[in-house]
Amino acid sequence: MEKLVIEGGRPLSGAIKIHGAKNAALPILAACIMASGTHTLHNVPNLLDIEVMLQILRALGCKADRQGETVNVHSSKANSSYIPEELMGQMRSSIFLMGPLLARFGSVTVYQPGGCAIGERKIDLHLRGLEALGAKIEEKGNMIVCTADVLTGTEIVLDFPSVGATENIMMAAVKAEGVTTIFNAAREPEIQDLQNFLNTMGADIIGAGTDTITIRGVKTLAPSEYNIIPDRIVAGTILVAAAATRGTITLERVNPSHLTSVIHVLRRAGVQILVNDDIIHVSCPTRPKAVERIVTSPHPSFPTDLQSQIMVLLSLADGLSIIKETIFEGRFKHVDELSRMGADIRVDLNSAFIRGVPRLYGATVEATDLRAGAALVIAGLAAHGTTIVEQVHHIDRGYDRIEHMLSRLGAVIYRHTPVPSE
Ligand code: EPU
Repeated sequence: MEKLVIEGGRPLSGAIKIHGAKNAALPILAACIMASGTHTLHNVPNLLDIEVMLQILRALGCKADRQGETVNVHSSKANSSYIPEELMGQMRSSIFLMGPLLARFGSVTVYQPGGCAIGERKIDLHLRGLEALGAKIEEKGNMIVCTADVLTGTEIVLDFPSVGATENIMMAAVKAEGVTTIFNAAREPEIQDLQNFLNTMGADIIGAGTDTITIRGVKTLAPSEYNIIPDRIVAGTILVAAAATRGTITLERVNPSHLTSVIHVLRRAGVQILVNDDIIHVSCPTRPKAVERIVTSPHPSFPTDLQSQIMVLLSLADGLSIIKETIFEGRFKHVDELSRMGADIRVDLNSAFIRGVPRLYGATVEATDLRAGAALVIAGLAAHGTTIVEQVHHIDRGYDRIEHMLSRLGAVIYRHTPVPSE
């Protein structure tokens, strides 16, 4: 198993360009199957989850190749709507193919998806949305068979603004007959990116970014060329890492408007942030201040995907901070690991009470999921001594070689890959 070894205690400094957004690229790659031909996507990050999506597309008969950050998906020969269980088990986002495959083939067979173990992660909203469009759904044990001779536009009210359900329903509705309106839709920037991509293919969608999305069904779609947005969670992770190490850095190729709530919280913690077009300068010369209360909620509120990272900063802040996690019930697994590094955190139901300590100390810790792993890397960078982060494959799902990004900013971090006899 690979490990990251970090010699902590060095302030980050320098400039870094942020790679494309995993959570925008995944549904956009899935959408490529809807229009036969060659799609060209730029700024596609080189990540484990993206590689799994490309493998699934290949299993469905597509060809996919990558040159640097550009991926071509050739979908003319797509000939299957069956996603093998083994691939479904590797990544929850495989569920995004339900809408596109229904739209193209009128049927799709999937299995209950896998993914990071951060909570129950049901898919009932996806299934109810597809049913409302006219799909028949049969669940046989772990297998879900979904068929539709015709999909028909309708009004769908989501009980909760689920990101994935909003995206799946949008994609299924693109070629449905008539108009579909999604109320209480998720408003994440990745949904706007999907709308923009689908519209370049010839779809007719408005409203993404608000809680009401309207999709007018079209008869045909054409392949497209598209540039994926920068990854706001990677940007947020690096911002927090700079602050936690009391560093000074510049983030380039970011969209600051996607990070409004995060920048607001960082400023409340006393972190200095200057924003200029697609650049963010961050510095943290003094000890951060506690933040009384942060509640993770759907966009534009504070993102659950940055909850674990900000907790590291608050572990080092002056005073008591409280974080309430409202999106996933299993997203405090980093707390035990941070405690082993000297953090003083108590969890009560879905709230964490963080009493800042003057310093953290290096330890051997385990990444239990993607964002928990990123948090432990930040803790290692800020800590005194050596930290070893195990189970790095979780981190590779969402960060393109995190150790390269951070060493360019002056961190001492390297990947230890055991030789077979070890
Ligand atoms: N939910 C249901 N039923 C559903 C769908 C969701 O009850 O049918 C619940 C979930 O169990 C969860 C909440 O709704 O408690 C939010 O889930 P949502 O569907 O919004 O999340 P997702 O689509 O599964 C995406 C991101 C996650 C991110 C969440 C929330 C992708 C590929 N994944 O997941 O990203 O945390 O939105 O913003 O877009 C990550 O990148 O580390 C990550 C986990």
